[in-house]
Amino acid sequence: MNKKLRKAIIAGNWKMNNTPAQTKKTINELKPLVEKCKKCEIVLCVPFVDIQNAVKAAKDTNIKIGAQNVHFAEKGAYTGEISAQMLLECGVEYVIIGHSERRQYFGETDETVNKRVLAALNAGLKVILCVGEVLTEREQDVTSEVVSRQTKIALLGVDKKMLKNVVIAYEPVWAIGTGKVATADQADEVCGIIRNVLAEKYGAKAAEGTTIQYGGSMNAQNSAELLAKVNVDGGLIGGASLKPADFAQIVKNAQ
Ligand code: 13P
Repeated sequence: MNKKLRKAIIAGNWKMNNTPAQTKKTINELKPLVEKCKKCEIVLCVPFVDIQNAVKAAKDTNIKIGAQNVHFAEKGAYTGEISAQMLLECGVEYVIIGHSERRQYFGETDETVNKRVLAALNAGLKVILCVGEVLTEREQDVTSEVVSRQTKIALLGVDKKMLKNVVIAYEPVWAIGTGKVATADQADEVCGIIRNVLAEKYGAKAAEGTTIQYGGSMNAQNSAELLAKVNVDGGLIGGASLKPADFAQIVKNAQ
């Protein structure tokens, strides 16, 4: 198992926070704090209406911009939705798909996650695919089955070449926004299970090359221990990504 085979990626998921004006301010604050960080890829996934300002503020820096969802159709009568092509034209490079908040509150299923993954990859976006168990599932000891199922269905129709543009984020739902972080060993174990699923489908080499992040109450204090684990290649950060100094510290811990 060799961590050096894959890219460390720290991504912020701003969720429904920051207006366009706040976006400009936050990114301008973050820029000098991370400008020397070259060994780790930095991504900010912002609300749709913030994309334009985020792309402008991050121009010519090492910060990449992502979105938090994408529709699976190319275009058409889908009121309120945003297509992959629209995101690409706005300068977006990454998109989060299947976040647990979308599964919980907006009817996202493994099948719709799969459709979005295919649409995003076919259009040329990079995908941050979220998987993770809820508390009852962990308590009933079915975490492995749950994340394996979510990963397998999300990646139906994704071939080895397309996998290069996929990052997987293991986000135990019970750890999101709760301050209750998974232990480094728990995170490492489940990221390892996901890597085994990838190895079965794509072979060991492709699995070894895929970045798998942990997400769920990761912060400036606990990130070093989590990121030191062999199967944890980065983080998907919610709350702490809203504070430039904290987010920058996590990026430094990933180097
Ligand atoms: P928190 O870091 O706020 O727990 O959120 C994690 C998350 O959901 C990132 O996508």
